[in-house]
Amino acid sequence: MSGDADQHIHIDPYERNWIRIAIGFLVFFVVMILVAGLALGIQVPTDEGRVDPNTLDQDSRFGNPGLREIVPGEEYEVYIVAHRFSFTPREITVPKGAKVTFWATSGDVQHGFALEGTNVNMMLVPGQVSKLSATFDTPGQYDFICHEYCGLGHAVMFGTVTVES
Ligand code: CUA
Repeated sequence: MSGDADQHIHIDPYERNWIRIAIGFLVFFVVMILVAGLALGIQVPTDEGRVDPNTLDQDSRFGNPGLREIVPGEEYEVYIVAHRFSFTPREITVPKGAKVTFWATSGDVQHGFALEGTNVNMMLVPGQVSKLSATFDTPGQYDFICHEYCGLGHAVMFGTVTVES
C-alpha cells in the first residue's frame, strides 16, 4: 500500500506493447467495417420478417414469385422461392441500369443465394425472408447459385439474371 496518488500500476513493457498492438487491431477492424459498409456498399442481410414455409403458395408475395416493375426501367423487385433443387424464377431479365431488390426464402431446407459480380450473397432459411439489392450498370449474364449444401442436387441449383442493353 502506497500513499502516493501518482503511483501507476506496473505494466511490463512487453505487455504494454501487446496491449497497444491489440488496440491497434481493433481500431483497424472498425475502420475496415466502416469502409466496407459506407464506401464499398457491402450490405448485410437484415431481418425482413417471417413467412410460413409450408404455405408459401398462399403467401401474398411468395405465392406468385417473379419480377415486379416498380419504376419502369429503373427499379424492380423480384421474389424468389428456393426449393430442392431449383429457384423460382430461374431466369430474370432486367434493363441496364436497373436497381433490383431480391426478396427470397426457402420452402424446404436451408439454401443459399449468391449473385455473381454483386454484393448479393445471403442464406435462405425456411420461414425467414432475406433481402438485398444490386444495381446493374453493365449488360450481360449474371449467374446466381445456391451456396449452402442442400442435398444431392445442390450442384445444379442455379439461375441467371440477364441485363439487357
Ligand atoms: Cu440449394 Cu444448395
